[in-house]
Order: sequence, then C-alpha cells, then structure tokens
Amino acid sequence: MKVFVTLHLPRELLTEVEKTHEVEMNLEDRPLDRGELLDAVGDKDGLLCSIHDRIDEELLERASALKVIANFGVGYDHVDLEAATRRGIPVGYTPGVLTDATADIAFALILAVAQRVVEGDELVRSGRFPVWAPFNFLGRQVAGKTLGIIGMGRIGKAVARRAAGFDMRVLYHNPNPLLPEEETEYGSQWVSLETLLKESDFVSLHVPLTPRTRHLIDRDQLALMKPSAFLINTSRGPVVKESALVEALRAGNILGAGLDVYENEPALAPGLADFPNVVLLPHVGSATYETRTDMGRMAVENLLAGLAGQRPPNCLNWERLPGGKGKK
Ligand code: DGY
Repeated sequence: MKVFVTLHLPRELLTEVEKTHEVEMNLEDRPLDRGELLDAVGDKDGLLCSIHDRIDEELLERASALKVIANFGVGYDHVDLEAATRRGIPVGYTPGVLTDATADIAFALILAVAQRVVEGDELVRSGRFPVWAPFNFLGRQVAGKTLGIIGMGRIGKAVARRAAGFDMRVLYHNPNPLLPEEETEYGSQWVSLETLLKESDFVSLHVPLTPRTRHLIDRDQLALMKPSAFLINTSRGPVVKESALVEALRAGNILGAGLDVYENEPALAPGLADFPNVVLLPHVGSATYETRTDMGRMAVENLLAGLAGQRPPNCLNWERLPGGKGKK
C-alpha cells in the first residue's frame, strides 16, 4: 500500500513500514504547504502527519483511498475527527510518551520567568554582567508559591508532581474535579477558574484546543490575575488571546509569561517579543530525543495496524467508526 509521511523522520523509524509498503516522505524540515499536501495524498492508503497538516473534509475528499491517519503528536485539533470517523478512517495519536518532556518544559518556563534565567544569560553574554549587589537583578521565588493548573489531565498531573518538589500549593481547574484520592495523590485542590486566576502566582495551561478552550485566557481572565503572577502556556497557542496578553504585559497587569506555543505559530503577536519578562520557546514541549523517538514508534505502530485493518493501539475514534468496524 502507499503511505505518505508529511514530516521528515529518521529513516530507521520507517524500516518496518518500508518492508511491506511504498513510502513517500517530505524530506524537508518544514511543513508542507496546503497545495503540496493535497497533491500528495490523492493516491495514499496511509498518512503519517503532524500538527501543521490540516486534515479536513477537503483533504479527506481528495484522499479517497485513505485507510488510516497516524498523527505524530498527542494534540489533534488539526484533525477533523468527525469527518474522518464518518469516512471510517481510524485516527491514531501518541498520548503518554510526551507527558514528562512537556511537564519539564512547563517547569523550565516557570523557573526561567521567575528567576530571570534568559535575561541573565543575555546580560552575561553581552558583557553587561551586573555587579553583585543585594537588590540588583532580583527575580521571584518559586518554592512555596501557588501554582494554578488549568487542565489536570496527564500533563497537568505531571506538572503537579513536579510542584510538590518545590513545596508549592497546587490549585487546579477542570470541568470535573478529580476523585478525592487523586487530589490527595497530586496534592492539589479543585477551584473555579476565577479563584485559580485570582490566587495563583503561576498559571499553567494544559488543556487541549477545542472550541470551548479557544481564547480561554482573554482580557477578562488576565485582569483577574495578580500583578505579580506569571502565565505559562505549553498547550496550544490559541488557548490564549495573544493580543490581550500583550496588552496585559504592557499595562503591568501580570509580571511575565513563559510560552512554548503561539496563536498563529510561528508568527508572534506584535510586541510580544519585546518584553524582557517573557520567555519564548519554539514549540519544544515534546522535543527530547527520547520522546520524539517514542512518538515516532507509536505513530508507526498506529499506521501499520490501520493499514492492516486492525485497531491502531492508540486510536481516537475506533469505537465510533461506522459499519461496526470498530466492534471487531
Ligand atoms: C503534540 O504532541 O501535540 C505536540 O504539541 C506536537 O505537536
């Protein structure tokens, strides 16, 4: 069968696929543009794709032979899951393996913004090492502060575990509270979104992007945060209305932000890159060698199973596929 891989992966990850299938891969380290993607999928049975590939009605119409979509990533807001389900196409994803890497990056951003790690590095590199003085170049303490986690799923919980090592008070907001024993396990307490925003020194976002979470953090929510608080986003850029964040930073309504994701990635809202109290990373939440290798392996397992007409081991819609396919 014919497989298209939209992203440049190490060839060895595809060895198993190439034993039995014909593989075409985007060999450039850039996402394909829409026209290239549409042209490539026409005759393919399997698609291994990622965040930059919009998988919608138009694409699925074009890819009429498609038997499986294997997403290289846990977030799937770029895939029209309903449209794939209607066409009987299983959609695989890679949950779990990137939990620790993403939680680490969230914590790296917390520490970096609070203790001005990037600003300090820039000062030293540029030869402007500030002379040590008791009240020069001060940051904010992380230990003992209040962390507000919005979205207490796999990654949110992993962030809460890290916060325990810093003796932090952990508040969280989810549509539904965890079971009491889980709250105890993660040393965390459910509060309303409003309370979380008002009381937290660090607000860290860990929700998927859905119509309900788009612009979850807008001007009104930022206005609830303490002027000494920091916003951390390692989830999806559009969860934060970036122009409102720029306004809040400019007005001093919050003290800073640590971001790994952007509303119109890779573009930034005008002014965002001008704040020294903002740390900006290039969407590297899962970018460790170990994690990306595991994601590749999982995506390939999902792809091969789907091509064989079997349930991909990590599948978003198998039970909902029409014609009882998923019931087998
Ligand atoms: C994910 O897995 O969703 C990461 O953000 C990479 O797309």
